[in-house]
Formats: sequence, structure tokens, C-alpha cells
Amino acid sequence: MANDASAVSDALSPAVSNNSLVDPFTPPADSALWRKNFLLGAATASYQIEGAVNEDGRLPSIWDTFSATPGKVLAGDTGAIACDHYHRWEADVELLVSLGLEGYRLSIAWPRVMDAAGAPNRKGLDFYRRLLNRLKEKGVTTFVTLYHWDLPQHLEDRGGWLNRDTAYRFADYADLMSRELAGTVDAWATLNEPWCSAYLGYGNGHHAPGLANDRFATQAMHHLLLAHGLAIPVLHANDPVSQKGIVANVGRGTANSDSAADQRAAHLFEVQHNAWILDPLLKGAYPQELFELWPGTEPLVLDGDMRIISAPLDFLGVNYYFRTNVASDGAHGFRDVPLEGVERTQMGWEVYPDGLRDLLTGFNNTYQNLPPVYITENGMASDDQVIDGRVDDTQRISFLKRHLAAVDQAIKAGVDIRGYFLWSLMDNFEWAFGYERRFGVVHVDYSTQKRTIKRSAEWVAKFLKERKARV
Ligand code: FCB
Repeated sequence: MANDASAVSDALSPAVSNNSLVDPFTPPADSALWRKNFLLGAATASYQIEGAVNEDGRLPSIWDTFSATPGKVLAGDTGAIACDHYHRWEADVELLVSLGLEGYRLSIAWPRVMDAAGAPNRKGLDFYRRLLNRLKEKGVTTFVTLYHWDLPQHLEDRGGWLNRDTAYRFADYADLMSRELAGTVDAWATLNEPWCSAYLGYGNGHHAPGLANDRFATQAMHHLLLAHGLAIPVLHANDPVSQKGIVANVGRGTANSDSAADQRAAHLFEVQHNAWILDPLLKGAYPQELFELWPGTEPLVLDGDMRIISAPLDFLGVNYYFRTNVASDGAHGFRDVPLEGVERTQMGWEVYPDGLRDLLTGFNNTYQNLPPVYITENGMASDDQVIDGRVDDTQRISFLKRHLAAVDQAIKAGVDIRGYFLWSLMDNFEWAFGYERRFGVVHVDYSTQKRTIKRSAEWVAKFLKERKARV
């Protein structure tokens, strides 16, 4: 399905016909993709690749608990072994260097580096120190996310993100990491996708810790954002040279019709997905429309919180995957109306590069103080198979080209975008979908841990080689 070339070329036509860059494979000479200071890299996250969950003093995380709970993750998969990156990191660094990747976005597992009393776990810390030092030696720009969802279970046992104290514990963790690792990190991101932590974790329960209550979601979000805001000055004090930011997933919502009700539904979709996070960060206030959508869910906010949360950022990380077509639900909200006959990925997500461009230009208009942007994740899952030693993931090549073209268009339209990290370097544990959904440009055979470079990785390497020759 995903590798069906005719499906891909059919699906290419509508999206590409809107693109001024008809063949983004060879972007024109004035494309931002050739700029020296534009960074092209790949991303991963600790729980999704590391494995070694019981080694060297690592404590359990909420994802160990959640994935061990029957029925929570497809096929009962867990991150216990994942890509065994904890043991194979040297070869994995060689691999990413061999592809010519200029940047690498990774995350630190909080339960690996701190014990329950807040004291450092040296063995865990040394793992990241070695990894980051090696990346620096190899000239790779390092983006480090402090929280990519693996909350220590002992903090969840005390209420997790529903407990305000977790925000202060996060600031302690950020303090320790930035004191220990300053000099090896080019950019710190406090949180990955607080929307997913708050909504999927506490609002609908699809992710760890698996609670389902809208009021919990807004309160968890507030504490996540507070954690972020408390960490920023700490990171700055310990590591003034690096950049500090946060990573948000953003969603494009389009209206199913021209009716005012459907237009409003699309607007509300974007309030719920984007403004819920970006307004507090960039305007210092929650969007009131969120509480029209979810009446009675206003979080408890203490005096001074919004000022802490809206501390200036050096960068905003944007993760983009797809758009959602919506209609009015007849009341105050929206409902999904999946479009027929559009190109989709193994996740069922629509391939819609224009959404990335339109969101970026929209944010640039809405937020006068929009910081420089990095696309910190973008990519797709496909049902990739190794056949005669090759993985022919043509749809992914086309996907990456079209989304890079959309980034280029947004830059031309005036958005300050400094780089792009594809998701992901290698196939990995895709949360509630386990190992079935493959997002990597490198294939992982989980029974042997063999890595096989997919055609998309060959394409990326070729593109990066060309970039190197030009810049
Ligand atoms: C994002 C996550 C990332 C990965 C991709 C597919 O929401 O940040 O870890 O799972 O989706």
C-alpha cells in the first residue's frame, strides 16, 4: 500500500500542483534549503529507542507501567528493548554521521539520570555525556529534549502532571542536566508536545498514564507549561550559550464546507490543538474559546504563573504530521470528517504538506513575537519490508520532498525557520502502536537489531551531500 508508486504519483498531483517548487528534489538556487545556516537533521526519543529499562539504575517510567498494562499498546509491545540503542549508540552515531545528517535531536530519560530523592545517577548521566561528546566530536549539532514523555513513575505515583510539585521537580531536573551537560548541547527543548502529554495522557487516556478527563487535561497542561517556564531561566543560568525552547505538535484543521458553522469548527480545532499551547507561551494567556469547547475546565492558575510560562524563547520547535478535516458537531465543537480519496500513510494520517506552510505563515501573523522556528519532527509511517536487502520506501521520499518544499515556501513568505529534523532516524517504539508503525529512514529488524538503510535515507544522504557541496 504505502510503497505503491502509482498511488503515490496519483496522490502527488493535487498537493504538488499548488507548489511553486515543482521538483523540490533539486530546489532552485535561491531556496532556503541551500542556506548554510539552515540545519537538516533527524530526531529520536529516549523511550522509543533506548531499551535497557532496568540497567544502570534507571527507574521505571510511566511508559514502562502503561505498556505493561494489557490492552494499552498494540500487540502488547513495550520499550523494554526497543532499538537497543543504549548498547548500540556508537554504531547508531556512525550511521547518522554516514548519512551526513547535520543535526540530531534526542531526548534524555529523566528516570535514567535522577533517583527518587533527586540525586544524580552517574551511570545514566555518563551515557548521555558520552553520546553528546561523540556527536560534538563528529560535528553534529545537538538538540536535546528534556521531557519526551517518560515521566518517572514515582512522580506519577504522587499525581504526575496533576500535581503542581512535578513542575518544580522538572526544574530541578533541568538544573542538574544543564549543569552536567553544558557545552555538549547546542539547543535545549524543555518539553516535547505538551498537547500529547496533557490530552492523550490525562484527557483521553490513549497514552501514559492513561487517565481520561478534560479537566485533568487542562490542569496537566498548566503544570507542564509551568515546568517549562520554570526551567527556561535555570537552563539559561547554567548554559547561557545554548538555545532554549520548547517543542509543540501543531495540527491543521480545515472546514468541510463554507458554512459559518464549519468554518468555526475548523477554527476551534486549531484553538484546541495549537492556541492552547502557543497562546500561553507567546501571549501569556489561555485562549478563552478553549473553555467554551470544554466548559468548566479552567485550570487552577496561581498569580505569576502566566508570566513564568511566557518567558521569552530562543526557538519554537514545531512538529507537524497531518491535517484534519472537520465540521461542526451541531453544538459547540467539531467532529472529524475524513476526506475520501486522499493520500494517507500507514497511520491513516493524510499527507498534506500545504498544512505545514499554512500553519507556519498563520503563526507568523498571529504571534508578533514568534521566535525562530525549527521543524523538530516531520515524517511518516509505512509498512516497510526488507526485500533483497533493500527497503523501497518511495512514498517517504516523496513525503519528505514535499514537506521540505512547504518549509521553503513558508520561509519565502517571511517565517524565520532555521532547520528541519525528520522523524525518525530509525524505526522505533511508536507509543500506543508499538513496533508495527515504521517511521524511520533506517529500518530496524527487531529480532536481530539489524539496521538497514532505506531508500529514503539514501535520498537524504544524497541531498545532504549536495548541500555540503553548495554551502
Ligand atoms: C510525535 C512524537 C514522536 C513520534 C511521532 C510519530 O507525536 O513526538 O515521539 O511518535 O509523533
